Amino acid sequence: MRLRPYAEEDLRLTRRLESDPGVVGHLGGTGDEEHVAQVHQRRMAGVAEGDLYYVIVPDGTEEPVGIIAIWRSEVAGELVHELGAMLIPDYQARGVAGRAFEQLLPLAVAQGVRVLHSFPAVTNGPSNAILRKLLFTRIDDCDLDYEGRPLRCAHWVRDLSAPQP
Ligand SMILES: CC(C)(COP(=O)(O)OP(=O)(O)OC[C@H]1O[C@@H](n2cnc3c(N)ncnc32)[C@H](O)[C@@H]1OP(=O)(O)O)[C@@H](O)C(=O)NCCC(=O)NCCS
Repeated sequence: MRLRPYAEEDLRLTRRLESDPGVVGHLGGTGDEEHVAQVHQRRMAGVAEGDLYYVIVPDGTEEPVGIIAIWRSEVAGELVHELGAMLIPDYQARGVAGRAFEQLLPLAVAQGVRVLHSFPAVTNGPSNAILRKLLFTRIDDCDLDYEGRPLRCAHWVRDLSAPQP
């Protein structure tokens, strides 16, 4: 499995992910073509500004099966680095996001990212489970806006400069 920077051609992947309830069911639900285009453009703009948007490509294929990203966002007036991932259903529950995170982590550290935050919906079992496995700590729950939709989220944090057990 390898990571490749998110690119124009990945509009197709974004469309596939954003239209599948098995992917975005915990993220406010599926969106129409306009929503897909907005998500894609935000990702492309993020890449241009130095955010880390990568697609996940399994061995033996060129076809990406998901996205993992670290991007800058403003949460409660504070600028933070946020981690997120999404995989097509056939590739969920196979440890793929954890392996992708291991590949993304050194790139983030090299860019000077010191603290990572993540805000899955409180109801998102797989997402909350993997963040715990990736040594994040859950702090307060909060109300956030995801793609214009309100979402009750868990707030997870990992200090990348702290020694790991
Ligand atoms: C959240 C996500 C990125 C986790 O990646 P992953 O590679 O599936 O993670 P893992 O294989 O390590 O699975 C984590 C846990 O969730 C469970 N899980 C993952 N996908 C699941 C699914 N579709 N149904 C039920 N359980 C699932 C796994 O069994 C595992 O449980 P365990 O820790 O008790 O063993 C992935 O499931 C996904 O893309 N979900 C949809 C999009 C999404 O909600 N993204 C998060 C936005 S913050």
